This record gives sequence, C-alpha cells and structure tokens, in this order.
Amino acid sequence: MTIPPGTDSAWRVELSSKWDARSQYMRESSISWPPHFLLIVRTLLFRSLWHLSLPEPSETVAEPIDFEKSWPSSYADGGQVSWSAAFSDATGNIKVSFPDIRWDTLRATEGWPALQHHSVLHTTLTVHPSDNASQAPQLLFDLKQGTFFTIVPRLPNSELSDSVPEWYAGNVYNMERSLPQAVQLPSPPSLSSPTVYDVYVSGDYEIRLFGDPRSGGSECPVLDITLSVQSESPAIGFIREPSHDIVCDFVDGFAFGDALGVGLRSISGWWTVTSASIPGPSERGLTVQLVKKLRLAPGQTRIFPLQIHQTAPFDSDTLGIQIDLMSGTVTAQVYIEFSISQQSQTQWRQHATPPIRASYFFAQSMPTVFLVHSPFSPTPYGETPKPPILATHGAGVDIIDQPFWAEALPRQERSWIIMPTGLTSWGLDWHGPSAQEAWATVGALGAILERNPAWHSWKLADNTKVVLLGHSNGGQGTWYLASRYPDRVVAAIPAAGYIKAQSYVPLTQSRSAHFIDPSLRAVLETAFTPDDNDLFLSNLVDTPILAIHGGDDTNVPTWHTREAVSVLKTWNPDANVTYHEDPGESHWYPKVFANDHVQKFLDSVFELQGSEASPTKGFTLTVSNPAESGSLHGWRITGLHIPGRIARLTVQDEAGVISISSQNVKSFSLDRRRTPAPKLVVDGVDILLTQLHGNIARIESGLNGWQVQEAANLINLPQKSGRLATILTTPGPLQIIVPNITSQSRELSIAQRLAYNLNLFHKLDTEIISDAEALQRLQDHNMGLGNIIVISPAAGRFARHCLKPVPAKTSFDISDTPDGPVLRFRGQVLNEHSQGTLFLQPHPSNPSGVMLFMIGNDAEGLERAARLFPIRTGISAPDWLVVGGMADIFGAAGVQGAGVWGEGWSWNKAISWHD
Ligand SMILES: *[C@@H]1O[C@H](CO)[C@@H](O)[C@H](O)[C@H]1NC(C)=O
Ligand SMILES: *[C@@H]1O[C@H](CO)[C@@H](O)[C@H](O)[C@H]1NC(C)=O
Ligand SMILES: *[C@@H]1O[C@H](CO)[C@@H](O)[C@H](O)[C@H]1NC(C)=O
Repeated sequence: MTIPPGTDSAWRVELSSKWDARSQYMRESSISWPPHFLLIVRTLLFRSLWHLSLPEPSETVAEPIDFEKSWPSSYADGGQVSWSAAFSDATGNIKVSFPDIRWDTLRATEGWPALQHHSVLHTTLTVHPSDNASQAPQLLFDLKQGTFFTIVPRLPNSELSDSVPEWYAGNVYNMERSLPQAVQLPSPPSLSSPTVYDVYVSGDYEIRLFGDPRSGGSECPVLDITLSVQSESPAIGFIREPSHDIVCDFVDGFAFGDALGVGLRSISGWWTVTSASIPGPSERGLTVQLVKKLRLAPGQTRIFPLQIHQTAPFDSDTLGIQIDLMSGTVTAQVYIEFSISQQSQTQWRQHATPPIRASYFFAQSMPTVFLVHSPFSPTPYGETPKPPILATHGAGVDIIDQPFWAEALPRQERSWIIMPTGLTSWGLDWHGPSAQEAWATVGALGAILERNPAWHSWKLADNTKVVLLGHSNGGQGTWYLASRYPDRVVAAIPAAGYIKAQSYVPLTQSRSAHFIDPSLRAVLETAFTPDDNDLFLSNLVDTPILAIHGGDDTNVPTWHTREAVSVLKTWNPDANVTYHEDPGESHWYPKVFANDHVQKFLDSVFELQGSEASPTKGFTLTVSNPAESGSLHGWRITGLHIPGRIARLTVQDEAGVISISSQNVKSFSLDRRRTPAPKLVVDGVDILLTQLHGNIARIESGLNGWQVQEAANLINLPQKSGRLATILTTPGPLQIIVPNITSQSRELSIAQRLAYNLNLFHKLDTEIISDAEALQRLQDHNMGLGNIIVISPAAGRFARHCLKPVPAKTSFDISDTPDGPVLRFRGQVLNEHSQGTLFLQPHPSNPSGVMLFMIGNDAEGLERAARLFPIRTGISAPDWLVVGGMADIFGAAGVQGAGVWGEGWSWNKAISWHD
C-alpha cells in the first residue's frame, strides 16, 4: 500500500502488502511480550503456534521466512504448526484466520478461551527520500485493532542485538476520535536511496473486541487489523486537532457548562499556550480564561482548558477564540471557531428533543463533555427534586457521535438523565477513572443548574443520590458502582451486564498457568479483586434492583445476570431484586429500557425517594480497596489488616444492640445520625460512644483491641494503594517525570508513548517534565495534585531524591555503590540486565494522590516496565512488580517479585512473593 506524501513532506512511505504471520496462544501479552525482536524467535519456539491460511487462498505464497519451520501446538491436527503469508488490501487492512483448525472441537472442551489467540505479524516499511531530502521524515502510524507494533532497522546481526525496539500501543479498541501516533525511526534513513525497515505487529484475537464468530455464522475467529502510515515534515510546528475540541450547548443563550477545550498537537518542539481570549468587542457578556499555561511535548496532543465566564446571553452560533503559543523564542497565534448549538428551556418540556451537551472540568482542569436529558417538568416549589438517573453505556459506544444510547433512554417527568462518557467509549469499564468521571458528572450537572437562577427550579438536591442504569459493559458498571457506593444509589437497573472479566473469558487457559507458582498467581490476581463484582454483592441486599437480560444474548450470556441475582439472594433471600428476562431478545434491543416494567420500577423508586433505606435485617459490608469504596447504611471500612485480602463487616441489630463482627478490618466508621445506639459490640467487645465522638465515629483495632478514635483523628484518608492501576485515578493532570527533556532519550520516548496512550484510552491529560523541573516544584511546594509517574534509571535525580535509603524503611530505595546508584528492595540489589521494576509510593504532597516509579536497569528494562503500565483493564499488577528476561519465556511465571503494600506502605509479608 502506498500513501501519498503528506502535504509538507516530500518523503514517500510504503508498507508492503505482504505480511508474514504466526500465531500462538494469547494471554497476558503485557508481561510476556518480549521487548527484543531477536527474542521473539526464541520465545515462540516454546509457544503453541499454528499456521496461517489466507482470506484469499488463491493468493497464498508459501514463502517461509527464515525462522524454524514448525512448532508444537495444541491447536492444529498433528500438533505441529508453521509460518505462512497473508496480504493486506489497499487500505492496509489484513484479515488473519485459520480455517483448518477445528475450532468447534477445541471450543467444546475449552470454551471461549480456545478462540483467544495471539499472532505475530511481520511486514516491511520502505522509506523513499525526495531528491532534495535533508532530514529524516516524521512518521505517523495508525494501527487499528492491533495491540502493539514496532519498527526494527535492517542492521547486521551484531548491531541489531544492541538495538532495543520501542513498542508502540495500537488503537486496539478502534477508539473514537483517535489520532495517528508519531513514531521515531529506529535508525536514520538514507537521504539518497530507499531504506527498508521491518515492522512487527502483535495481533490478539479477543472475544470482547471481535465477538463470538458464531454470531456471524462461523466457527472460525478472524483477526481484523488495519495498519497505515503517513509522513509529516518535522519542521517546528503544531497543529489544531478539532476532534479533541470540547464545547457545550447553550440554553437560552447561557453555556450549559463552564469548560471549553481546544485540541492542539505538537508536530515537533515544546509548545506552551500562554493566553487565550475572545477577540473583538467585550460587551457580549462572555469571556474565556486559560485555566493553566500548559506545555505540549513533541508529538503530544493536549486539550487546552478554557473557563467560560458569562454575564449576559450569547446568542451567536459561533464563538471565536484566539490562542497565543510559544516555543523557545518562536511565537504563534491561532484563531479557533467553535460552532455553538443553541437550545431553549421551552424545548425541555417537549418530547423528542436531542440530549443537551454539557461540559465541566474533570480532575481539576480536563475539559470533558457529558449528555443529559432534561425532565419534562421542573420541581414544584417546596418539593425535593427527584434523584437523577446516571446511565452507563456499553463498551465501544461513543455516546457523543452515536445517537442510539440517548434515544434508548426514555425521558422522565421529573428526573434528569445523566449520560457520562466514562472518559472514553471503553474507558476502564466504569472502574477507576471512569467511575470517578461518572460520579463527577452528577456534581457537574448540579453546579451548572445552580449557576444560573433561570434553571433553579430544575436543580438537583444537594449531594443527591442517583438511580443507576446501564447496558452491557455499562450494566456491569451499574453492578460495580452500586455495590461499591451503595449509599449513593437509590436503585439500580443493570441490563445485559457481565459479572467480571474472568467470568466472561476465564483465565484458566493462560500460558503462564503451566509454569507459575500458584501462590505468585494469587498475589498477582489480588489486582483483580476490586473488579470482581460478585464478591461485593453483599453490599446490595437493601438496594432495589431490576436486573434485565435478553434471553438469547450471545454477546454477554444470559447466565451472568441469572448468576448475579442468585449470588445476591444467597446473601439475603429477601433482597429486593427482580430479575426480568426478555425471551428471544439478543444483546441489544431498543426497548430494553423503554417499556412499562422499567417505568413502573422507576416510578416506585421516585415515590420512595427521600427516605433512607433502612437495613431490612443484618447486612455485610464487603470491601477490598477502602480508597475506592463508599459506605453502606453509613458504615464504612477505612483500613485493612492485610491489604490484598478482602475485608468484611457484618452488622446486626439484635433488640437494639448493634453487634458487629469483622474480618480483616483494621478500622471502620459509622454515621451516628443513622445508627444512634450508644453502645456497640465489636467482635464481642463493648464500645461506648459519646457526644465527643462526633457524627462520624471511627473505630480502630490497635494493641489494646477495638477503640473509638477521637474526632480529631478522623482526617486519615484510606491509603491509595492496592494495585498499579490506582495511578489512573488521578485528582489532576498526570505528571510524567523523565531525567531530561532537552534531548531524546529512552525515558522521554516512553513518556511520549504513555502520554499518547493515556489520551487515546482514557482522555487523561499528562504533562511531561524533567527531573530538574520536578525537584524545583518539590522545593517550591508546587508539585500539583495530579498523580506522578517517574520513568527513570536508578541514577535519575528525582528518583534518588525520593528513594533515599531510610534505616527503618524496608521497601524500595536507591543506594550509592562504587558502581553508581542501584535500586534495592529490602536491601537486595536489583541490577540485572533487562530488569524492570514498577511500584507505587505516596504522592509527595497530596494525600489523595499516588506516585508510580518505573525503573529500568537499561533500555530493555525500561521497555519491559513500560509495557506493564496498567493502561487497560485486566492487568494483574499489584502495588509492586519486578520483572526480568525470564518473563519473555514464561510470561507471568517469569515475575521475580510482586506484592501489595501493607498499612503505611510497609512490606506486607502475607501478600508478597519473590524468588
Ligand atoms: C524538495 O523537493 C520537493 C519536490 O520533490 C519540493 O516540493 C520542495 O519544495 C523541495 N524542497 C526544497 C527545500 O527544495
Ligand atoms: C422493592 O423496591 C421497589 C422499588 O423501590 C419498591 O417499590 C418495593 O416496595 C420494594 N419491595 C420491597 C419488598 O421492599
Ligand atoms: C540534558 O541533556 C542535554 C543534552 O544532552 C545536556 O546538555 C544537559 O546537561 C542535560 N541536563 C541534565 C540536567 O542532565
């Protein structure tokens, strides 16, 4: 395939349409995917591979490339497989399938996991210089539905073994509004003749992504990947990315939100936006203000946050904004015109109106949109507003550009319907930052309605609870949000949700399972516990639930909802849960929520609103991560004896005596306005509460057993640890710290790729800064609120500053040796070649933030650590991980050490493993 040269580049880039492909069993590709291309060959010899046939068998070219010819495989008849070739079409699309495999036979015993497989795809890239080329081009790659890719130079073997490929993440979910990724060529191309590079792509057939082939009438899974490339002139510059603009609707001339965002990408150079304004006469009553002076790293895209201030209606349908930028001594100006969609309150009272687009600042300064349906009527004077419905969409549903989600939600008489994006269409499956964003939209709508007196009769109640409703991944999200924050929810309507990832496609067939110490596996899998919805159903025994599933759902089997309801009823046979199965319906049907029984359920919920649900009888609160869990009937678990294990608090009211039994609970609190009893019996010990203990009493187990804490001690926030993915739940833009930003380095390259991935998968904003800048910020007490990611060798100045050895401390530190600084864990030196280490630490200044260190002993170690960054769900990475070269062969079984921190970020012997 040939892509015409970019407008300002005379280079021509060409990807060969011929691909070589081999496949193997898929699972944990983050851990096992080798950073070194030479290692791939060796690694694959140990894996189950099978041969590739082509979508067009007539085009088959039996031209094995010079690797070993066949490998043992449990898939193919005869147990041996070998290489084959395939062709992409003119758009760079390649379809990979293996029709000779007897998929139905494999599936009969192994189930869906048998269909999941991993393919290594190879092709070549040729870069043709123009006649007068003086500088290498910059390449923009776009890999859709592939997991990773890398470009490898054609060098003599001796030199090749020294070059460590940079792995780029593909847009595996085919995410909406994605941008191609700037890729550094691994070696400079010739300026006078074409240069050929090898391109490797990791292709993973995942059920969630590609679906069950049977629903398309076939037994054979087909991997469907598209790779394209274009060249861009590396001249200093930036470009506007309108796909990243954020704008809200206006209602009767007033902005329905306070945030505007301008998407800008640096082509090269570091660009800072210095100011923004609306040019022209200012008497229009609308001004904008740049929230922060943000800086773009080369290749980075950010959404520049502008705050709207308004004093009079603005009735134009365009809004022009001028932005000033600077790079070194170069200055530039851009003029941006937003088109404004105007609505009116009279429209709110009508049926068939489009949803309103609202905007707000997520995590301090990230402009974010969400949709709302207004109620038909305002709240009558003197009455309490009805709770809003918070509606969580399915995976891959882009609610902004696809109207069907908003159309499927019937508008209500007196309740707002809030439709968050969860940051992106896949987000983190409504966990972590997506959960944070969903809750934030409720507060944001409240603030928007509060800001304009004309909207006050439509306001939400202060700290309003919500009715949760969701479909598919959003049905799962509804189970998740309701069971982790039961006191914020008046009722829940989960439809077609799966219980948890491992129930959707089990992990039993993972490759590493053949090698791993089950106790290591247990430590790694504690990272899944907070996501395991079934374990937390005890928290929903007093929440009215209408669970819905289509009877013929082949995407999320009906089994999931039936099973969840049965688990819930095990906790309490009287739990107020209704299971409604729509016979003959498949995964999605437009009437899933628009029907009489859903409306009847909603009406009964709205009637009851206002009264606190009181415990029907005893209840059990289950928590695994106190920092990401709310209260149940006012009871909250705030600390665990052994983080990594779940904690349970069973509360029973026996003739006015509240008796509590605990499991793995170090501290908990209760709301005495809801539980006024003066005496509690905790694990058989009497605890007396007095006025002194305040409304929220905190009870902690110490050396002398259970004791009530004085109110002054209540400020202890639950520790923000438990798994690496905690880094994604950030109170502000993420800060990525690298040793030096003035020259290109492995660390800076990883930071740029991470910034790209965080924008692609989560629309999370990042700022890349140097060690020196970070140390200055620390010194100025100006570190900011956002979580921090440190990408560094052990010699990095910021890492050394933060990880100075402290005698009593027993976790990671960096100590000076005659050979230079080395990373140690509990005194043991970690200086193996190719070793990468990741661990969480508290944020240096924000108690509700965290810091993630990604330390590599060399380029290979840094790449290894980078690939373990928990960008997506289902990555079994607890609080710390040490991984070396053995992981290339044994996957997760090659992990050298892993664990969950104890209280106070201490060594937690029970939930740690090291070799
Ligand atoms: C280089 O050649 C291309 C055509 O191949 C032309 O468009 C471009 O202007 C030339 N650039 C310079 C710097 O001469
Ligand atoms: C269950 O919840 C619904 C909706 O709130 C309510 O109308 C109904 O009375 C509840 N049933 C019981 C048995 O509490
Ligand atoms: C960063 O790199 C540049 C260029 O290699 C070098 O001149 C500078 O001294 C480095 N800065 C630090 C703080 O190491």
